[in-house]
This record gives sequence, structure tokens and C-alpha cells, in this order.
Amino acid sequence: MLPDQPTLRPPVTDLRSDTVTKPTRAMREAMAQAEVGDDVYGEDPTVNALEAKVAAMFGKEAGLFVPSGSMGNQTAIQTLVPPAHELLCDADAHVVTYEIGAAAAIGGVSSRTWPAVGGGIDPGQVAAMVRQDGYHAVPTRAIAVEQTHNRAGGAVIPLSTLQALRAVADENGLGLHCDGARIWHAHVATGVPLRTYGELFDTMSVCLSKGLGAPVGSVLVSTAARVAQGRVIRKRLGGGMRQAGILAAAGSYALDQHIDRLADDHARARRLAEALAPFGVVDAAAVQTNIVLLDLTKSTVDGATLAGKARERGVLVSVLGPRLGRLITHLDVDDAGIDQAIDVLTAILRG
Ligand SMILES: Cc1ncc(COP(=O)(O)O)c(C=O)c1O
Repeated sequence: MLPDQPTLRPPVTDLRSDTVTKPTRAMREAMAQAEVGDDVYGEDPTVNALEAKVAAMFGKEAGLFVPSGSMGNQTAIQTLVPPAHELLCDADAHVVTYEIGAAAAIGGVSSRTWPAVGGGIDPGQVAAMVRQDGYHAVPTRAIAVEQTHNRAGGAVIPLSTLQALRAVADENGLGLHCDGARIWHAHVATGVPLRTYGELFDTMSVCLSKGLGAPVGSVLVSTAARVAQGRVIRKRLGGGMRQAGILAAAGSYALDQHIDRLADDHARARRLAEALAPFGVVDAAAVQTNIVLLDLTKSTVDGATLAGKARERGVLVSVLGPRLGRLITHLDVDDAGIDQAIDVLTAILRG
């Protein structure tokens, strides 16, 4: 059970995550007007249109609407890695940190990690980890990366690194998966086209309910054959939804209206980081997208104290570790919210 929290009085600036956004009035309007059908029968026109739209954005053959990013990742992993085979990823990757052991528990997939160093990847190190087929060891079948990298503070993995990983995957007959919960942010921050990312990966799970502001949903994109396989896996996971067009309409609206504005979230994250940098808790130059990590190892204030005191003054902060905090900017935080957060957090850090 969650601990009791005092009721907050507005204004509240919620920087815990970009998943906390509420659908805008215009998005709700689009949801209300959505044509719907039974998507398990493949008859929901709005879902079908969303799947085709996202697939086209990444230059992929097909898409599959799933309720969550976790289901998108796990469905993709199951299409790439058979039971008793192995997935390689970063030790801080969402798939091994926050998906409750799903790859092993549901897919029978063994995961092995390379050390997390701020989202940095050494393709040579990954290549050296690959285990070939044989009766003695667990054979590697796929590599997963996260773009942008959540626990690495929204870091963008450079295109050249992804290309080198693609080469490692090709040389070893492996699949390459992208947890693209925030691929939109990487695209906006770097200008790399979504299709360029699409060309590199066998499977991608992209989220509509993070920075884009939809209430629910992610889309898995891949080849038509793999998506057909994914459709069966989604059903097995209980992710076959019925009149899901109401949700797909929100996602489609978000894709049309909320990608370009991510630049505002990035600018606000930078402004926050620059204001907090003098306290030695943020490397402002490292902030590339909408996530600001607070390294409190040298501060007199620990994560729980910071979050508790900030909450009393209407600013919500995530605590990722005893001395690690996280702030995420999003659609529901405007310039006034950033001003409020800067006032409150600087006052606490000043002591
Ligand atoms: C990088 C990353 N991948 C996947 C997910 C999972 O998304 P969901 O919460 O929709 O399962 C998240 C959630 O915040 C995330 O940050």
C-alpha cells in the first residue's frame, strides 16, 4: 500500500514523470468522435489507422497497438528471443529494471546486461558478450537499447553507436530492439528522422502516453510477419482490447499535435538544470531532452528529504535512489511551473 500523503493544494507542479499528463480538451474531443469496432476482430478503424500511421512514420510494414510500453517491449522481445535464449541490454534498461522480471517470467528469456554508464554503449563490449549456439551456454538472440535512456537522464544514444550495434547484430544473426518510449524526444533533439531510426531496428516499441500526452498506449512496429506474431502474443498477455479506437484516437491526435512541442519541454528541462547546477547536483550540459537527474551525493539533502520538502510546497519530484532524484518536464508543466520548481528546489538545496 502507498503511504498516506497529505492532500496537495494547487498550484502543483508534477515533475515525477511525463506519464502524469492528462488528456487535453481537444484530445478528449478527438476521442469522443472516434469510430470504433472490435479490435480483437481487427475491426476498429481508428486502431487500424493508428497502427498504419505509426508504422509509416518509422518506415515499417506494420504496427500493433498495445496498452503499455512494457507490453510493447515484452511482446517484441518474445518475437525476437525464444525461451531459454538470451537478451543483452544495459543494466539500467527499463526492460530489466521496471518490467517486473517479465522477460524471464513470461517469455522464459534470460537477460544479461552490460554496465550502465550514463546510457553510453561500447559496441565492441556488446559484441564480446554474444554467446553462440551450442548445448553448453545460453545462446544470445537479441540486443535491446533504450532511446532516449530514462535512467541515464534522457540521454540520446548517438546514431553512430546504433549503427555499430546494428552491425554487431547482423554479424551475429541477432535481433535489435528499441525501447522507444521517448524516441520522439531523440528525434526532436537531434533532427534524426524517425525513419532513420526505423531502418536500424527489427522491432520498436514507441509510447504515446509519455511525452506525447495520450492517456494510454504504445505501438510496436516491425515487419508484417513479426507484427502478426506479436498480435498472438498480445492476446496471450491479455492485451487484446475491444473498442480501443477511443484510445487510439488520443494517440493519433498526440502524434499530430504534440511532437514538435517537445522542444519546449527540452528547453524547460535545460532551464531547470541551469538553475540547479550552482548547487552541484546537476550537470546542465548533460541534459539533452526532458529529463534532469539530481545527483545528491555531495548535497546535504538526500532524495527523500528533497522530495518530501518539495511536496509540501507543491512540487513533486521522483526519488530513484537514496541520493538520486529525477525531474521530468512534460505537456502539463508550463513556464510558471518551472519558475515554481526553481524557487522551491533552490530554497531546499540552499538549506
Ligand atoms: C524507457 C521506458 N520504457 C518503457 C516504459 C514502460 O511504459 P509503460 O509504463 O506504459 O508500461 C517506460 C515507462 O515510463 C519507460 O520510461
